[in-house]
Amino acid sequence: MNVILIGGGGREHAIAKYIAKNPKVENFYALPGNGGISKFAECVKISAEDIEGIVSFAKNNSIDFAIVAPDDPLALGCVDKLEEIGIKCFGCSQDAAMIESSKIFAKELMTKNNIPTAKYKIFTKIDEALSYVATSDCPIVIKADGLAKGKGVTVAENFKQAREAIMSCMRDKTFGKSGERILIEECLTGHEVTVLAFTDGKTIIPMISSMDHKRAYDGNKGANTGGMGVIAPNPYYTKEIADECMEKIFIPTINALNSENRKFKGCLYFGLMLTKDGAKVIEYNCRFGDPETEAILPLLDGDLFEIMLAVSEERLNEVEVKFKNLCSCCVILASSGYPGNYLTGYEIDFGDVEKMPDVEIFHCGTKREGNKILTSGGRVLAINAVGESLEIAREKSYEAVKQIKFENMRYRSDIGAN
Ligand code: AMP
Ligand code: GLY
Repeated sequence: MNVILIGGGGREHAIAKYIAKNPKVENFYALPGNGGISKFAECVKISAEDIEGIVSFAKNNSIDFAIVAPDDPLALGCVDKLEEIGIKCFGCSQDAAMIESSKIFAKELMTKNNIPTAKYKIFTKIDEALSYVATSDCPIVIKADGLAKGKGVTVAENFKQAREAIMSCMRDKTFGKSGERILIEECLTGHEVTVLAFTDGKTIIPMISSMDHKRAYDGNKGANTGGMGVIAPNPYYTKEIADECMEKIFIPTINALNSENRKFKGCLYFGLMLTKDGAKVIEYNCRFGDPETEAILPLLDGDLFEIMLAVSEERLNEVEVKFKNLCSCCVILASSGYPGNYLTGYEIDFGDVEKMPDVEIFHCGTKREGNKILTSGGRVLAINAVGESLEIAREKSYEAVKQIKFENMRYRSDIGAN
């Protein structure tokens, strides 16, 4: 089959590596791909947001199957456009992607369907938002409604921070249209869990659970990032909690989307908080998480491409999705300054890491120049190691991290430590 993968980060590197194992995948292209993906797929300089470019490439290259991984093309209707020309896809429609592309839509869907989530209010006017936070207790959470490259959420510790977040969204338009409407939410406390699930709109199969580390610095300090590291499985996510989530969150979400004619086919991401009143939804994403995918796919005991085909053909009930009885620890190596401004273009020295057993390197923001691999993004590499326990995985992962060098490299040293 001729296959395209849309995207060019660590998540797509992991997906590329695991689907390339299937002999059905013959001609394999990544749009735009990256330095690491180029080992498995031909990288084509078409941006993941250039939907017309993607569709015409797919047409001209007789593509049979497309995997649309990032949020932006899903929200822009990439899957709808590809399906219109007869290409099977793993990824959801634009209507279903609203579960991520509008946090207000997601909240209203949960409220209508009694899916547990934080209490919230919607604001379209600055003065009303400011007077609401002035009389509310802190911490309080301010969220831009739309997509904001993972930066649209502020957990404000005090009124000053809440005010700044509101001004940044609504007055300064830092996130453009995405911040025209905002949500102000109750701040939940507890352990956070990510559960990714395969679904074809009829069957939902959760993958192994995981724990992201969103803040930039050790001890969960600093700004929210796209994720600085992940462990899987999440030690707080017990079988009992998983059963409760299936009954009260996962199945009701699929039913809610179906009741609105927004059948979801692809990977649905549940960001959960395990509160003292049970699990509650913090957010949905309409795609695989990054870096969750880099920690989870190495634990998959099965064929990712066959699962993706089954999802697209709505026969997920026919396949078995199993995970190894092992743990992952994934550490992100970032450019110093991320999630703010940073410099790129530095050569990466991988040391002997490629020879280390149980260690995988996924490229998040790199480019190939001749024989060299250069940094090209805020998150540069995801280093994942698997082991029989979290401690073993963690040790191997940090041992690999020590081998890798590039200028301005920065990472958290406490992934999976608490
Ligand atoms: P999101 O971009 O929605 O994933 O939010 C980023 C991070 O903000 C989450 O991973 C949580 O750590 C935090 N967060 C979002 N909403 C809440 C909430 N209602 N209560 C506490 N923390 C939250
Ligand atoms: N790691 C968080 C996300 O993918 O949104």
